[in-house]
Amino acid sequence: MGLLDGKVALITGGARGMGESHVRLFLEEGARVVFGDVLEEEGKALAAETGAAYVRHDVRSPAEWRRAVDTATELHGRLDVLVNNAGILTYGRIQDMEPEDFDRVIDVNLKGTWLGVKSVIDPMKAAGRGAIVNISSIEGFVGAEGLSAYAASKFAVRGLTKSAARELARFKIRVNSVHPGAINTAMAVNPDLMAEVDVEAFVKSMVIKRFAKPVEVSHVVAFLASDRASYCTGSEFTVDGGLLTGAGY
Ligand SMILES: NC(=O)c1ccc[n+]([C@@H]2O[C@H](COP(=O)([O-])OP(=O)(O)OC[C@H]3O[C@@H](n4cnc5c(N)ncnc54)[C@H](O)[C@@H]3O)[C@@H](O)[C@H]2O)c1
Repeated sequence: MGLLDGKVALITGGARGMGESHVRLFLEEGARVVFGDVLEEEGKALAAETGAAYVRHDVRSPAEWRRAVDTATELHGRLDVLVNNAGILTYGRIQDMEPEDFDRVIDVNLKGTWLGVKSVIDPMKAAGRGAIVNISSIEGFVGAEGLSAYAASKFAVRGLTKSAARELARFKIRVNSVHPGAINTAMAVNPDLMAEVDVEAFVKSMVIKRFAKPVEVSHVVAFLASDRASYCTGSEFTVDGGLLTGAGY
């Protein structure tokens, strides 16, 4: 028996990185999965390989949210789980950053997540319950040089998560946030970021002294999406190898 048997899940930004890992683990755990992304080639290839359904879905667009949600309900008759995973990181110190770059990060990471919560309320009400998992970051707890927009967006996802948890409990919809630390994906090895970080010192500052595999985050996301997390809502789950425990970070 799988942890997610019988569940229908929509995962954003699912074509690569952690989103791809969530797609694969959710399928293994018995869920029927629809995933969106703006990377069409990667999305179609993952769908062909795994049997999950891919939909082109830019999380900034309310119309594309409607299409993604409709795809899930038309294919599978219901929607039980949303993982708001899509995100971008733009590196730049405040003095050097253009306002348009700030807006883009907030639009994808924060407004995209808010639109997601808004878009799944009706289908989850119809299903009689639901679980929403919002992917924030350890930068949702601490600031970092060059990441003002990213950290602002990820702090805000915590506020959104807690407000949504309070609003949606009456419909048996749980809403939690997950805060990954250093996970081995294209985002974490972003060249602008890497040029600024002393990776060796960074790894030394960790409690578990390595970057994580994406699936180590997926297991926490799958737990929160499942009925085993029935008493968890409005909560924050760090998956950071102990990084936030350190005074040096
Ligand atoms: N990698 C890390 O160390 C790390 C740490 C903390 C949090 N996160 C968060 O985890 C999530 C996944 O990141 P990742 O590390 O897998 O990065 P990634 O860049 O590999 O994956 C992000 C995915 O989101 C998609 N995406 C970007 N803009 C989109 C849009 N407008 N609409 C739909 N999809 C869009 C991308 O195409 C990509 O497939 C993000 O929210 C990120 O902020 C990552």
